[in-house]
Amino acid sequence: MQHSRRRRSTPHGEHRPVLLQEILRILEPRHGMTVVDCTVGWAGHAAELLTRVGPTGLLVGLDMDAENLPKARERLAAVGHPFHLHHANFAGLEQILAGHGLTHVDAILADLGMSSMQVDDVQRGFFYVREGPLDMRMDRSRGRTAAQILATIDRLALIDCLQELGDEPHAESIAQAIVHAREASPIETTADLTRIIQDATKQATWRLHPTPGKWNLHPAARTFQALRILVNRELANLEHLLRIVPQILQPGGRVAIITFHSGEDRLVKASFREHLASGRYAEISPDPLRASYDERTRNPRARSAKLRFARSATQSPQ
Ligand SMILES: C[S@@+](CC[C@H](N)C(=O)[O-])C[C@H]1O[C@@H](n2cnc3c(N)ncnc32)[C@H](O)[C@@H]1O
Repeated sequence: MQHSRRRRSTPHGEHRPVLLQEILRILEPRHGMTVVDCTVGWAGHAAELLTRVGPTGLLVGLDMDAENLPKARERLAAVGHPFHLHHANFAGLEQILAGHGLTHVDAILADLGMSSMQVDDVQRGFFYVREGPLDMRMDRSRGRTAAQILATIDRLALIDCLQELGDEPHAESIAQAIVHAREASPIETTADLTRIIQDATKQATWRLHPTPGKWNLHPAARTFQALRILVNRELANLEHLLRIVPQILQPGGRVAIITFHSGEDRLVKASFREHLASGRYAEISPDPLRASYDERTRNPRARSAKLRFARSATQSPQ
């Protein structure tokens, strides 16, 4: 379960794609292949994939967040091989591929975290300790912001959301406090919401390191995570992707999915198992792969990452 900031850049701004070596080993990108990066972000994984598919291959990259694309485009252009980038939700992958005359691809990657740009930009409202508008939409061109949802969501639905998408043990008191607070004034900023949560959980004096060497989860972390998943319909998008992947993969093609949340990992596991049983997949990862000790030490964001893969059968099931 992800509770902390999932930043993907080092303090010096260097970009480290999570589980990169494992992804390359699993997807085995080679010259001439067509590969899809469903969550291109700043193209950390995508640039490595594109380098390997070479001038005769193709990379199709998608991101729901248009603001990531200029940086991704610059990075991919520097590789010098063919690619297409789209501002799109991966739930619409089939239509995107059809637009390029493609029905099947050799490899698919989805790295489901947030990008560092999203977390670092206070205007996006993803981070609880820096004040900004309570937005949380990955795609700012559509949908309701977290503030708009919090203004109307029913108390019981909010409790469900906090429990199911955030594993929040104080879901009831936080939901009650939100409903109470919004009667007095709208909850519009990250600081408004963080304050309400800290009061409701009696953790107004929260400290990251209560004692040296101890690490303390921020009281708002779970609520922010749950709201972000709700705002962006993240589980529904993933469910849709998992349904269409077996039809899009070439025989013998591979898919790799990195998750940071137990609910996401459960969906991936269930879908891979179902398609293994039906014969559509020939092989799936028996257990999720985790980042090495070295990577986890270098990159704290890799700590909660889980990677699962599947390989499509070489013949369609009868
Ligand atoms: C962790 S970042 C990807 C980082 C990327 N692998 C890299 O190396 O730079 C995840 C990205 O997925 C995007 N995203 C999340 N859900 C999406 C969806 N349903 N469709 C398309 N993009 C999505 C986010 O906007 C974010 O930019």
